[in-house]
Amino acid sequence: MIEINHVSKWYGDFQVLNDCTTHVDKGEVVVVCGPSGSGKSTLIKTVNGLEGFQSGDIKVDNVSVGDKKTNLSKLRSRVGMVFQHFELFPHLSIIENLTIGQIKVLKRPGEEARTRGLKLLERVGLSAHQDKFPGQLSGGQQQRVAIARALSMDPIAMLFDEPTSALDPEMINEVLDVMVELAKEGMTMMVVTHEMGFAKKVAHRVVFMDRGAIIEDCTKEEFFGSPRSERAQQFLSKILAH
Ligand SMILES: Nc1ncnc2c1ncn2[C@@H]1O[C@H](COP(=O)(O)OP(=O)(O)OP(=O)(O)O)[C@@H](O)[C@H]1O
Ligand SMILES: [Mg+2]
Repeated sequence: MIEINHVSKWYGDFQVLNDCTTHVDKGEVVVVCGPSGSGKSTLIKTVNGLEGFQSGDIKVDNVSVGDKKTNLSKLRSRVGMVFQHFELFPHLSIIENLTIGQIKVLKRPGEEARTRGLKLLERVGLSAHQDKFPGQLSGGQQQRVAIARALSMDPIAMLFDEPTSALDPEMINEVLDVMVELAKEGMTMMVVTHEMGFAKKVAHRVVFMDRGAIIEDCTKEEFFGSPRSERAQQFLSKILAH
């Protein structure tokens, strides 16, 4: 579903991605982790064309992201993205947040969009909040709405960039629970996260990045179990120490 082939990217003289190659098959969950500044956000943003790259190739469902002829807005409407900050429309109610993309981009009739929106709201456990505004919800609730909003567009894959790292600890699990459900249903997911419990539970593979390069790309069993690069070992021992 997602193929990343020898992708490199520079900001001026600084190489932020160094010959990155990996893939996410249909129905697969790939967790991307690594130290701060290693290029995780940059890599995931290249997948739906939010960041360009100078060399290599990325294909999503066989559509080349780097090809100038590719309609990037169309591609983005098919790939859901959830960021650290929820980025809901503050002036729209929750249900309006869930219908606006369906109506404007997918041209769905209002009633159909509303039915789909309400169903997704129920799925993330927030039916009671449909008429509230984002500012009236907790961070965890807003992030669940953001996931429901992405799902309302019937994405072929979902990208997550540290979706729980801005949340208070007690809200992290409610968001992870929604993501675990999604993974179990077979959604194709690429997830930047340091939540190793989530990775252990649902990831098929783990990609570990350091200084712009992918230095581990292996099954979760290999990543958490057998010997691997010293850099990944250091990272894991730090992150699992608490
Ligand atoms: N617009 C930019 N111009 C120049 N350098 C940038 C720009 N955006 C990011 N960088 C640099 O690229 C590197 C990778 O950034 P990126 O945000 O992808 O890292 P990350 O792995 O997601 O880090 P974090 O865990 O802190 O989110 C960093 O060194 C960052 O400072
Ligand atoms: Mg980041």
